Amino acid sequence: MNSPLSDFSFKFGANWPILLSESTVFLLMTIIENTAVATDKYMPIYLEALRLDTVIDFDLYIKIGRDLILYRAQNLPFTEKTRDNLLENNVESLFVPTSEQEQYQKYIESNINTIITDEHIPEQKKAGIVYDSSKMLVKDVLSNPTLGKNIQRSKAMVEATVGYILRKEDSFHNILRVMSFDYYTYTHSVNVCTFSVAFAQFLGFDDEEFLNHLGNGALLHDVGKAKISDRILNKRSKLTSLEMELIKKHPAWGLEMMQKADILHEDSFYPIIQHHERENSSGYPHAIGTQDLHISGKIVGIADTFDAITTQRVYQPAVETYPALQRMISEKGLFDRDLIEKFAFLMGPTNTGKI
Ligand SMILES: [Fe+2]
Ligand SMILES: [Fe+2]
Repeated sequence: MNSPLSDFSFKFGANWPILLSESTVFLLMTIIENTAVATDKYMPIYLEALRLDTVIDFDLYIKIGRDLILYRAQNLPFTEKTRDNLLENNVESLFVPTSEQEQYQKYIESNINTIITDEHIPEQKKAGIVYDSSKMLVKDVLSNPTLGKNIQRSKAMVEATVGYILRKEDSFHNILRVMSFDYYTYTHSVNVCTFSVAFAQFLGFDDEEFLNHLGNGALLHDVGKAKISDRILNKRSKLTSLEMELIKKHPAWGLEMMQKADILHEDSFYPIIQHHERENSSGYPHAIGTQDLHISGKIVGIADTFDAITTQRVYQPAVETYPALQRMISEKGLFDRDLIEKFAFLMGPTNTGKI
């Protein structure tokens, strides 16, 4: 076998690529189902996200036929009776007007820890709630990245995500099932954070503090891109050398912003400044090599590249999981050999077989 994966192919069955394409089909189906019911004006939410005996300060709509009907106006308590009524009528999805998204997001953030520890909520739905609200939160953070309150919010969400991933063995794969792979920076940020924390745990790092610092840095690894215009970030044609120089500044800009904000632990800075550095010193901004790379920088470098390759961009089509990993492994010298092989193992059929 001449595949770059040949030296550890014993870990994978011959049908691995087939299994992975099935998982991709599943992910696509998830996305299509969601977009089919979502409009610009309403967003779907899980019934399980609503806590009993809390006052809901946003309107709740239900779908009847093709129409969305106001079910419960805001500022009313959500009681057991309300929930039972919905369940009796087989209503599992509710909708919230996007104009009230901020209230919904705040509600989820303040209840996230009770949601992830609630034994009555199926794991798959918890994963959906954690992932969707992380995306909404990062969208907010990136629109105003230096706002201390926003960085604090992202810290709390990373702690909840780490807690969720550590709680059960298959939590990461539950999140994988609900993940989306679009070109938005906030989706990319949440994906890189999820991959990084799950990968570190897979490597044997189980100290929550370490994982929180890693997760915070991973979530905000591209925060410096907030200083670069969308015209350059999403340019279809080749970047000019001047534009390339600007792009290469985003790790240092991100670090500067986070140092100034003085909210993150300094261990969270490694992913931000080092995620484009490579083992053979071919990366940027400082072209440091393997001996100077922190483990958090290495982990996030792998997670970042993997998500970038497997996501459709305006300037490149998405590559599937198997060829993406093959490409990363075959480009010798860029990533720590041992780490990239373990990452491939984490993403491989042994762990994703159930998808
Ligand atoms: Fe980056
Ligand atoms: Fe990135």
